Amino acid sequence: MKLSKIAGETSQPPILRVAAQINEKIARGETFHNFTIGDFDGRIFPIPALLTDYVVDSYRDHQTNYPGPVGLPGLRDGVRQLVRRYAGVDYDVSQIQISSGSRPLIYGMYRAVVDPGDKVVFPVPSWMNDAYCHLCAAQPVPVPTRPQNHFMPTAAELEPYLADAAMLALCSPQNPTGTVFAADQLREICELVVAENRRRGPDEKPLYVLFDQVYWLLTFDGIEYPHPAALCPEIQDYLFCADGLSKSFAGTGVRVGWGYGPAHLVRSVSDTVAYIGAWAPKPEQIATGRFLEDLDAVDAFLVPFRVALHDRLRAIYDGFQAMKARGLDVDAIAPQAGIYLTVRINLVGKRTASGQVLQSNEDALAYLLDEARVGILPFSFFGAADESQWYRISVGTCRLETVPALLQSLEKALSALQ
Ligand SMILES: Cc1ncc(COP(=O)(O)O)c(C=O)c1O
Repeated sequence: MKLSKIAGETSQPPILRVAAQINEKIARGETFHNFTIGDFDGRIFPIPALLTDYVVDSYRDHQTNYPGPVGLPGLRDGVRQLVRRYAGVDYDVSQIQISSGSRPLIYGMYRAVVDPGDKVVFPVPSWMNDAYCHLCAAQPVPVPTRPQNHFMPTAAELEPYLADAAMLALCSPQNPTGTVFAADQLREICELVVAENRRRGPDEKPLYVLFDQVYWLLTFDGIEYPHPAALCPEIQDYLFCADGLSKSFAGTGVRVGWGYGPAHLVRSVSDTVAYIGAWAPKPEQIATGRFLEDLDAVDAFLVPFRVALHDRLRAIYDGFQAMKARGLDVDAIAPQAGIYLTVRINLVGKRTASGQVLQSNEDALAYLLDEARVGILPFSFFGAADESQWYRISVGTCRLETVPALLQSLEKALSALQ
């Protein structure tokens, strides 16, 4: 039966198709190395123990009524402290909105600034901007990025598309690449946005920036995390940042997110969050507020968490470099942050042991799934060109001791190709 035009045109993300194939294999008892999941296994990467205690306390204390439209003051104050401490920028509590994870804030920001037909510029590969554009009937303007820049966009790449755009959507550290903006690279982009808004004048709708920073506290040794508002204070009038517990605190299922920006934007995002009832549960808000107020506890959680993620990503990265040194047609970008590694595997045009020539990236993915028994996601699933040879490896469900088996399985399958 007919649905709305927007609902009818919504296609199933290819990630779900691959997930179903992998689940079938696992259900059949096949050995499989699944590195596709952009989520955590809570037994390997639990949320902070204190946070769990505080959530339980809040339920025991019967804190189960509506949390209010903007979020609890204690949590907003905790967010303020977190942002001040780690990003060096100070947002007033009134500029902070709480929601059930960062997604309602991202959607709310699209709703706040994008009219049907408006252009939204975003780099590719990136996470979900195509879907949010579809939901808002926006015109997506995907801008390809390059491995030389770790797949982060540059001002020169974005500039040609900004003159008539309503929004620029950025993400750092980025999904799917696990890479971070360099400070100069981000500063130039911010300056471009400020210059574009000066050109537009006060009666025109400005060019806004959605800055998704859900992985920002997970940068590895020696990698600086530049925050747009710290680099370029003038951008604050147009900037909305989305963040939350999901990635930096391994709490994808806890559903506490926060966003901040200028009051007029926050008010509008807040309305969307309220209409769809996407508030974070009150007990979780109380607990997160108590946790974030204790920045020593935050550090005590983050330091070993970063090491554990980096160890896994580094082990896989080293494995790829070793395969490359042995002559296989692969490469990898050194991990910078978050839970993803960017790798290149060139399979197209190669002949399998059974004589089949891999004609397309579709064939290449099938070979990885069926022969290597390895699940990783092609960048084409994140908006990159179909022929891209780059893939995302996620370590959110990875035990370190399983990395050698992944690498051996992959190397065996790659070595069998001619
Ligand atoms: C870049 C990015 N932003 C936002 C999200 C969604 O996070 P949340 O669980 O806070 O809604 C994800 C989840 O994978 C993500 O990768």
